[in-house]
Amino acid sequence: PRVAVIVVAAGSGTRLGVGAPKAFVGIDGGSILRHALDGVFRAPAAQVVVVAPADRVGDALTQAHDAAGDRRDLVTVVAGGETRQASVAAGLAAVWGDVELVLVHDAARALTPPDVFARVVAALDGGADAALPVMPVVDTLKRVDGDRVVEAVDRATLTAAQTPQGFRRTVLAQAYAAATGEFTDDAALVQAAGRAVTTVPGDALAFKITTAADLDRARSLLAPRVI
Ligand code: CTP
Ligand code: MG
Repeated sequence: PRVAVIVVAAGSGTRLGVGAPKAFVGIDGGSILRHALDGVFRAPAAQVVVVAPADRVGDALTQAHDAAGDRRDLVTVVAGGETRQASVAAGLAAVWGDVELVLVHDAARALTPPDVFARVVAALDGGADAALPVMPVVDTLKRVDGDRVVEAVDRATLTAAQTPQGFRRTVLAQAYAAATGEFTDDAALVQAAGRAVTTVPGDALAFKITTAADLDRARSLLAPRVI
């Protein structure tokens, strides 16, 4: 396929704090990773590289094969690293064949709708080197110095970044090869390499499961409706 999706699932989930790697925590009958993979496989066929904790590679492969159905040949699972950036690098090294576009997706954004993937790919097909989904910021924002407010910040010039973040494969590979510091997301890393990054509309359902409250929200979104 022309597109590869790297699903990073190698984090420990410190803030969720359930004592198991976050991606392997159940939402309903299915784990966070399984729901993320179901979303990936609802989008058009792509090569899928899952990045899992080293001691969960087998478990991740089983889940990925279950999610893939008759597309299991498109699945690879590799072990991640200490940081998200190291995990993405491990995933990128496992992309094979003549892939042109690479999307990097947080497993923790388990309920991301397939439309978001489509918008990112469409922006790349339109010529962008890098594209990421964003959401408007809803809170009123203040810049602070300790507990003192320095100034109000105009939220109209700010957005909240989501995943999947998409890149021309060559652009992402060159940016990772050149990266010196740690970046909070792949778009920041690519921007530091001097590339333009474009935005597409994100989706509220692409929220990241970070805390126990986020997991509760995911659970209620998936719960059967009582009428
Ligand atoms: N991730 C990863 N490898 C790491 C760290 C994070 O693959 N070394 C992945 C996580 O599995 C997650 C995504 O990157 O899908 C976003 O990270 P985050 O939400 O911060 O997850 P964790 O790092 O697991 O959580 P925490 O920061 O609370 O420990
Ligand atoms: Mg983290």
